[in-house]
Amino acid sequence: MKGPAARAAELRRLLEGANHAYYVLDKPELSDAEYDRLFRELQELEAKHPELRTPDSPTHRIGAEPAEKFRKHRHLVPMLSLANAFNEAELAEWEDRNARLVPEVRAAGYTLEVKIDGAAVSLTYAAGVFTVGATRGNGIEGEDVTANLRTIGVIPLRLKGKSWPKLMEVRGEVYLSKSRFAELNREREQAGEPTLANPRNAAAGSLRQLDPKVTRSRGLRIFCFHIEAPGQKLTVETQHALLERLAAWGFPVEPHHTLVPDLAHAHVEVAKLEALLPELDYGADGVVVKVNPLRLHAELGTVGDREPRWAVARKFAPEVRVTKLKEIRINVGRTGALNPYAVLEPVEIGGVTVSTATLHNFELIAAKDILPGDLVEVTRAGEVIPQVLGRAPTAKGRPPRKHRKSFEPPDKCPVCGSKVERPKDEVMVYCPNVSCPGRVLESIVHFASRGAMDIRGLGYERVRALLEAKLIANVADLYELQQKKLQLLALEGFAEKSVDQLLAAIEDSKQRPLSTLLFALGIRHVGAEGARLLARHFGRMERLKKAKAADISEIRGIGPAIAEAVAGFFAEPRNQELIQRLEKLGLNMKEPATSEREGPLAGQTYVVTGTLPSLSRARAAELIEAAGGHVTDSVSKKTTALVVGADAGSKLDKAKALGVPVIDEAELLRRARAKP
Ligand code: IVH
Repeated sequence: MKGPAARAAELRRLLEGANHAYYVLDKPELSDAEYDRLFRELQELEAKHPELRTPDSPTHRIGAEPAEKFRKHRHLVPMLSLANAFNEAELAEWEDRNARLVPEVRAAGYTLEVKIDGAAVSLTYAAGVFTVGATRGNGIEGEDVTANLRTIGVIPLRLKGKSWPKLMEVRGEVYLSKSRFAELNREREQAGEPTLANPRNAAAGSLRQLDPKVTRSRGLRIFCFHIEAPGQKLTVETQHALLERLAAWGFPVEPHHTLVPDLAHAHVEVAKLEALLPELDYGADGVVVKVNPLRLHAELGTVGDREPRWAVARKFAPEVRVTKLKEIRINVGRTGALNPYAVLEPVEIGGVTVSTATLHNFELIAAKDILPGDLVEVTRAGEVIPQVLGRAPTAKGRPPRKHRKSFEPPDKCPVCGSKVERPKDEVMVYCPNVSCPGRVLESIVHFASRGAMDIRGLGYERVRALLEAKLIANVADLYELQQKKLQLLALEGFAEKSVDQLLAAIEDSKQRPLSTLLFALGIRHVGAEGARLLARHFGRMERLKKAKAADISEIRGIGPAIAEAVAGFFAEPRNQELIQRLEKLGLNMKEPATSEREGPLAGQTYVVTGTLPSLSRARAAELIEAAGGHVTDSVSKKTTALVVGADAGSKLDKAKALGVPVIDEAELLRRARAKP
């Protein structure tokens, strides 16, 4: 009989082999029952002989204990981003620039890879064993999410073969498949949890769960495409061979990569891949073109420490599709704005079925001369809501105007029937009735949303249910739900545990600062930034309530339209009553004292972008303000630092271009001397 050490090693090998066969090769070797039996045997062995636990044991995949917060991890080699090329000409310019430095590139060949749209990670392997996995972070330093990455079945815990460098970082993109994303959202909807916005954010968010079991339940996957092994010899010479090597070691590699001899062939293959992308079960936002010989990578080098010269992301213009506009409908927003939207003959755009799209406002409908029955062009760029671009050109051209009547904006609110208002100099049309059911629903949902009071678990479905059951009629009623717990439990979709969580979240929201409350109240024209300016200037609701429009418009950054809207809001008796009730119910009506000279961030200005690991952007802004700093929306030379999270976009580029320091959440917390 084998000793426990040998048996444990054997079990690990068997289980990891089965994992690889199941996840990567899609050819299961063991039945589920067999797998479970071996797995439990290994678990028991490890429990009895803790010294036999190894970092590569498959038992880690079920998820370690939740972490308090993530440790920082400094990458051996910075994680770079990629320059973009939006068309053939830009791709050719990229080659021209490279050829001026290294003429050989024109004939060296290129690999083309699908550019996976997920969350970038770096996996460190020491002596072939997965030891640390980290997010990209700011490129230099990321977060150690090893325990979470171990739950991803396709990530090899120990490499196959032998030819690996002693120490290396394998780079890849963690993603959530489109089908798993849809399934997750169905589950979440049924459980009354907020749905996830898109697969990319869902992947990034799932990776940064403090509890690895949550990460595990999300069903993440990964594709790997790059190796950094500083100071060591890689026994492969081309990117193409590198991909094959990664696959041989057990890493999942996106299967549609190809090798082309030159740029002319690249153009053709890129077009083929573009057509393929919508059909894939994973989000892809372009094709990465890479110079094939690795020797030339070293020669070409990088631009700053931002982008390699040897690779470029060929991105595609957002897809435009033609479909029939069936009907124009109107949604009433929380400010009473009537938002026209198009009900479309369903059409697939970028792999997503689109059946409604925004029409923005009535003036644009008139300007574009759009009517129900028209064929229209619809687009969806990234995660942006689909929009109608205009009428599609037809073979016969446009029907002559005289046969068409134009679309008439309504003069009554489609929800409550009140006569609509059209403020001077505005394109929007408004329902003036503050009790309009359409407005009430939207305003309560906004009040509870993440950027506002952040009451988790209170989205459209539940607000609608609460309104219908007459348990609430306005936002103040939320704070009296505590006394209506029995009635809550009687509603469908309100189980004991989730009701308790909801009530706790409502209670918790009472502490939000005045700026957050002001934004949450949904005063017309008052966004998060305006609310902060108001709160900081007046400090207390008391003082703001009494302010005249003229006083308010003296605040820097507050224009006359905002000032009028704010004064108008507080002049309304219903609103006065509401505020009074909220105050009685125990909501915080003060902004933490932050005179310009107080606090560790006094005199500093920050911009926050991307998804931070633990704070929402609104919470990060609160924290900065509470420490005496300012938060603005755009990066300028005056910005003290840009706080970046995952998937930062153009603001990061701008900060780099202006030389504005870039910091992460942990650094922000340090500077603000705050705990997350
Ligand atoms: S190469 C030095 N290849 O896109 C290596 N990146 O916008 C530079 N990505 O941070 C990256 N698929 O997370 C490369 N086949 C692929 C990729 C890929 C997705 C991501 C990666 C990178 C981002 C740049």
